[in-house]
Amino acid sequence: MSELGVIGSINMDLVVRAPRFPKPGETVSGGELQMVPGGKGANQAVAMARMGRRTALFGRVGDDVFGPRLRENLQEEGIDVARVEILPGVATGVALIVLDEHGQNTIVSSHGANDAMKEDEIPALLEDWSAIQLVVMQMELPLDVVEAAIRGAKARGMQVILNAAPADVRARDWFSDIDVLIVNETEAELLSGLEVADVASATAAGKALCAEGCESVILTLGPDGALLIDGGQVQHVPAIEVEVVDTTGAGDAFVGAFTAMRAEGVSNLTAVRHGVCAGALAVGVLGAQASLPSRSAVERLYDEEFGG
Ligand code: RIB
Repeated sequence: MSELGVIGSINMDLVVRAPRFPKPGETVSGGELQMVPGGKGANQAVAMARMGRRTALFGRVGDDVFGPRLRENLQEEGIDVARVEILPGVATGVALIVLDEHGQNTIVSSHGANDAMKEDEIPALLEDWSAIQLVVMQMELPLDVVEAAIRGAKARGMQVILNAAPADVRARDWFSDIDVLIVNETEAELLSGLEVADVASATAAGKALCAEGCESVILTLGPDGALLIDGGQVQHVPAIEVEVVDTTGAGDAFVGAFTAMRAEGVSNLTAVRHGVCAGALAVGVLGAQASLPSRSAVERLYDEEFGG
């Protein structure tokens, strides 16, 4: 029986490293094409499973060359894929990712089967998942589906975590049903209407989001670590210095490790520290799911950085 549920996207990531991002109209020669399983929902489910939590995923792939392979891969990770459907005649979600020499990325995704999900599928899903205590969502699905999932899960007494990525202002309508909102700098800017340039301005944006109704807000700040705004208290967890190979999936590693630890009943601060460790480990490896760390690697780094 699964403990955690993820309702989210499944993609095949097509990744090319280039010396720099092309300007509009320019062609730049890149390195070898890599195909890596991705999609924010699938990545976060894999991150939770690697942290040792029994996780179920609700998602859609197509019956093309990628879909069955991605579903099988998730199953091999120990994820309950009973609700991952392969849709005939539909393309699987694909993300085109360019990495620059600093490991920063640009991503364009073609949602494909992810967009075929319907909000009227949510009540039966949540009925099926009645033993699940905590549900995690992102915003790479039709927003009516995300809204139905947030409202439905909350009404059933499940904890709700929303990683508002990619952000849409519609998320503001859902704040009162969200237990933990996780956003990066640009997502926080869009949702709060405040500029985020440093830890001080991130704190102001996070407090504004809490004032709008979220119980807890976490801002992931890349090289500035993460900020937790919880019950009026602000706590900053600095980043861990690491060599950056590829930032893709680092946010998903954070969300997955945070969620897995929160589900174990630790404090939000301890869970955020585990998230920061998972994110730091993820940026050292190319690819989204390929970079998500094991529980033992996260615990080892946590002990080194935060003293056990
Ligand atoms: O968060 C990273 C993910 O965003 C990638 O795996 C890509 O598929 C996009 O969904």
